[in-house]
Amino acid sequence: MKKKFSDFRSDTVTRPTKEMREAMANAKVGDDVLGDDPTVKELERMAARIFGKEAAIFVPSGTMGNTLSLIAGGEEGTEIILEYHSHIYNYESGNLSKFAKLIPRPIKSQNGEMDIEEIKSNIKTSLRIHIPKTSMIALENTHNYHGGNVLSLEYIKEVSKIARENKLHLHLDGARIFNAATYLNVDVKEISKYFDSVMFCLSKGLCSPIGSIVVGRKKFIERVRFLRKSFGGGMRQVGILAAAGIISLEKMTKRLNEDHIRAKKLAEGIKDIKGIKVDIKNVKTNFVMVDLEKMDSFTFLKKLKREGVLALPFSEKRVRFVTHNDVDDKDIEKAIEKIKKVMEKSVMSI
Ligand SMILES: Cc1ncc(COP(=O)(O)O)c(C=O)c1O
Repeated sequence: MKKKFSDFRSDTVTRPTKEMREAMANAKVGDDVLGDDPTVKELERMAARIFGKEAAIFVPSGTMGNTLSLIAGGEEGTEIILEYHSHIYNYESGNLSKFAKLIPRPIKSQNGEMDIEEIKSNIKTSLRIHIPKTSMIALENTHNYHGGNVLSLEYIKEVSKIARENKLHLHLDGARIFNAATYLNVDVKEISKYFDSVMFCLSKGLCSPIGSIVVGRKKFIERVRFLRKSFGGGMRQVGILAAAGIISLEKMTKRLNEDHIRAKKLAEGIKDIKGIKVDIKNVKTNFVMVDLEKMDSFTFLKKLKREGVLALPFSEKRVRFVTHNDVDDKDIEKAIEKIKKVMEKSVMSI
């Protein structure tokens, strides 16, 4: 069947694969709140092993995973250092303050990597009674706002050293950590080993319909389990979802390079079109950020939608295309052709 739209809005639009649907239908389940669901247990064990951590917990969403990690890892009324455009600071409903009661200390960066000296100079040890101390640092990898950029291992290592020296909890919003590991061509453990806690999403490029996971030390995960229940996130026969998650981890993590190749192909195909700008060297994973020189994002996307291609506005003049399992080479060709058409028409009408 011909698709109506080539959908590049996000990797969250991926639908579960046929294999996932079958596994979901046949999943062995139990009451997970009572600790009875064998499929959830298997998924959590698998995640802990893959990330080289003591324990893991399945949560409904990335936002919940990050929020619970901040509550469990931070200290009420203290500061968290995080990147100015990070998802946790900007797009999680203010949960860092609302629920974790942390004070954000955002630091601007060009690519998601906050300056090391700035991190150091922003750590408060609270030697004076009117200054809240720092309890946490959070990084994001890949970095959503910064076009799916990947933080280097050297950088992560340096930040983790600072965190250890200052006894700060280091959390990773690793919603797309497998894209980062694919780009770096390393086992995901090589990234997670520097962090006290990592949240990653099964429901983005890994195609599960729902779900994220938090990994960390046993005690930390026990605390997150308590908090998950108190937030209403205790789920019963949730092995139905964990069955898809197992396929995400076993299979879908291995195919992400296809998405990265397609993102590059899309970027290459549109980079010379008049009226738009694409920074090819920054296309590292599955995001392509497109800057519009004359048209605004809303007009551009409306015209593109009429041609059967969807993407998301990022700012007034910036739009984002994301590649994933539900777009293939034909979708890439179509997107290139339609973007050209929209831009040519706009040049003619000026
Ligand atoms: C970097 C990052 N962190 C966290 C999240 C939150 O995930 P969820 O939508 O499952 O709450 C997202 C979602 O897009 C994200 O891009």
